[in-house]
Amino acid sequence: MIPASAPAPVQPPSGGLRARMDRWMTDPALYRWALRNPVGRWISARRAKGLFELMAGFVHSQVLLACVRLRLLEAVLEQPRSAQELASLTRINPESLQKLLDAALSLKLLDKRTGGLYGLGALGAPVVAHEGLRAMIEHNALLYADMQDPLALLQAPQDASMHAYWPYAAQENSQRQARQSPEQVARYSALMASSQRFVIEELLASYPFAKHRQVLDVGGGQGGWVSELARQQPTLELMLFDLPPVADLAREKVAQAGLAHRITVHGGSFTENALPLGADLVTLLRVAHDHSDEVVRILMRAIFEALAPGGTLLLAEPMAQAAGTATGDAYFHFYLLAMGEGRLRTAAQLHALMAEAGFMGLRQIPNPMPLHASLLTGHKPV
Ligand SMILES: C[S@@+](CC[C@H](N)C(=O)[O-])C[C@H]1O[C@@H](n2cnc3c(N)ncnc32)[C@H](O)[C@@H]1O
Repeated sequence: MIPASAPAPVQPPSGGLRARMDRWMTDPALYRWALRNPVGRWISARRAKGLFELMAGFVHSQVLLACVRLRLLEAVLEQPRSAQELASLTRINPESLQKLLDAALSLKLLDKRTGGLYGLGALGAPVVAHEGLRAMIEHNALLYADMQDPLALLQAPQDASMHAYWPYAAQENSQRQARQSPEQVARYSALMASSQRFVIEELLASYPFAKHRQVLDVGGGQGGWVSELARQQPTLELMLFDLPPVADLAREKVAQAGLAHRITVHGGSFTENALPLGADLVTLLRVAHDHSDEVVRILMRAIFEALAPGGTLLLAEPMAQAAGTATGDAYFHFYLLAMGEGRLRTAAQLHALMAEAGFMGLRQIPNPMPLHASLLTGHKPV
């Protein structure tokens, strides 16, 4: 509610109540008034802080990248260290390094300890703990470069360097897929494998896999997920399907893990080849968002055909949230734009695509940490 002493809203030439409010909110007189009023001051201070963080976000992410590249967080985890010690370890001149240390302190990556030493901060701890997080922070340097001119990216997303990193996302036909170099495939597959750990933990905490007989993981990458399922659920039969060069990598990893007798790996493209038949659970982790609606329709239909009657599709990927509530949406919208044909969808949009293929009983499953993935299920009728 607006207190009676606030300046009168400016009368606009046109527009509804919301439009009038918008104009009023941008009136310098309102800001002046707000600074003299305790409630107004509180609201303004919160907005100013939010906006400042928005504006400064690019610096924050680069401070994080510098800490990762210099292995500063590992150094202070080993033992709290002085600025001089860190300067000699990182070979950055002490005056410059002090700026980084102060910035990292302000961002809670580092923490000040007694005797002027630096230790690990609350937000630094998960970065050291998860190799996948560090790999993504390093990988984001590519998106950062693509976003340096955001208008150029919006106008010509096909020129983004992220396009070249993910060859399959912009190339749906098999001849072009065949042109993916082994290095490209190995690079993106390794990144996915290291960042998949979070999704694996969320899935294991959220869904009762023991009730299933056979699981097929479509777009399963190097097989981290099916391998973990094999370890956790000794009676489950497991299959993985991915593009042939990725399937080759998966076969190698599965054999190295001593799980070849539990996991069958199939190479193919879900846009052109039938999926292996018979599973009563298909998992689809971080795959649909890489593709256009047209491709997702083909994929959903292929999964529906492959599932045993009464079988379940479990889909896990980041999903668009209600406006203003989600921290990840802006990141994923732009990541997927730079990547290719994919898009961040709402749970309702994904459910609609599943329903089109014939899935029934569509549900969203609660997930303890829905930042990396929200979880949806649907069933093939018996
Ligand atoms: C973003 S990665 C996710 C990998 C894994 N599910 C995870 O969560 O780490 C998408 C995977 O889908 C695979 N993929 C993309 N297009 C495909 C297609 N047409 N047929 C089969 N797999 C495909 C890619 O090779 C890649 O392994």
